[in-house]
Amino acid sequence: MTDTHSATGGDVRLSGISKTYGSFTAVHPLDLTVPQGSFFALLGASGCGKTTTLRMIAGLEEPTTGTVHLGDKDVTDLPPYKRPVNTVFQSYALFPHLNIYENVAFGLRRRGVKSVKKQVGDMLDLVQLGDKAGHKPHQLSGGQQQRVAVARALINHPQVLLLDEPLGALDLKLRRQMQLELKRIQTEVGITFVHVTHDQEEAMTMADTVAVMNGGRVEQLGAPADLYENPRTTFVANFLGTSNLIEAEVAEASSDITVTAGGGKLRLPADRCSADTRTGGKLLVGIRPEKISLAHADDASGIPLGRNKVTGRIVDTSFNGVSTQYVVDSPAGTALQVYEQNIERDSRLTPGAEVVLHWNPAHTFGLDAAQDIDAGVEKVEDAA
Ligand SMILES: Nc1ncnc2c1ncn2[C@@H]1O[C@H](COP(=O)(O)OP(=O)(O)O)[C@@H](O)[C@H]1O
Ligand SMILES: [Mg+2]
Repeated sequence: MTDTHSATGGDVRLSGISKTYGSFTAVHPLDLTVPQGSFFALLGASGCGKTTTLRMIAGLEEPTTGTVHLGDKDVTDLPPYKRPVNTVFQSYALFPHLNIYENVAFGLRRRGVKSVKKQVGDMLDLVQLGDKAGHKPHQLSGGQQQRVAVARALINHPQVLLLDEPLGALDLKLRRQMQLELKRIQTEVGITFVHVTHDQEEAMTMADTVAVMNGGRVEQLGAPADLYENPRTTFVANFLGTSNLIEAEVAEASSDITVTAGGGKLRLPADRCSADTRTGGKLLVGIRPEKISLAHADDASGIPLGRNKVTGRIVDTSFNGVSTQYVVDSPAGTALQVYEQNIERDSRLTPGAEVVLHWNPAHTFGLDAAQDIDAGVEKVEDAA
């Protein structure tokens, strides 16, 4: 776990930084340390304050409170051009009349550097566009243009590269390729990248550390796998992938918590609970869809002892090649999601079938029940 209050060692350190516009608070006082040389993602839905945070690091926005340190230097009062950072935006705005070579050379020429050839050549090699040096931007694909924008920023040797939804304009397949490409570039140059995105898969694929933002606050920060396996809020559980959240009541608490839900009993490890676990208290039992196995009710006797079990009925299935997604209604909860890999498909598992969902209790997490159970669930109108 990163010490977010550490006084040294961070390449970007935000202390109590906030931004208000009139009576509206876009970013609540925020403490954040981005370790040097890491790939850091700010992840959250549109309007949660990602760009504002990034702009305060760049000096494009004056914080209402707090300070920004880059390395050991307090840059809070420095104008953007005096900060050792560069920003790559979604609209990369290359100079249309200049060829790729001159676009990349621009920063060097402006600083009066005379011999740019080697550096520009190295940069074009880094982004694998050496053969496009003489082309104009409009002759390149969107992904190639975005790589030019990255090269143009990196040639200034910034201490930190800020990226604000740089892949947002690209179609899905190209975006996936560019994610791997950007990750490779970051590993190669070793510069700190702070990457803003609303795409949770993008953040998890690329970043060493992800800060999940919600309503101007960081809800949780950690390595992708840790955030995914151990969400501490319903927002993180729902926003990062999909979670089944089941309302339950604590029946017994020791190193394992036993709860009742929908008339049945479930168990979960106490150390995976971020909720009050007093007997009689309420909590939300969380289980990821891919951790659940599905058995036809006729085969229920074959389920090994010690598994968590929920009986229900399939209401929907959708086949998508690698896996099948099942939606199951049960007394413990409606619309429970189950993802099954397509290895041996059981032809009885169709809508209407009575089934038992079962999983290893160790894969279960517990959340505070005093939260909105649907926080962070993607709504249809957000998906556009
Ligand atoms: N200059 C501004 N004046 C007033 N409100 C603003 C301004 N800039 C941003 N906001 C508001 O602050 C919130 C956060 O914006 P932003 O940081 O751009 O979010 P994100 O990048 O996560 O989509 C939004 O509600 C936005 O409308
Ligand atoms: Mg934004």
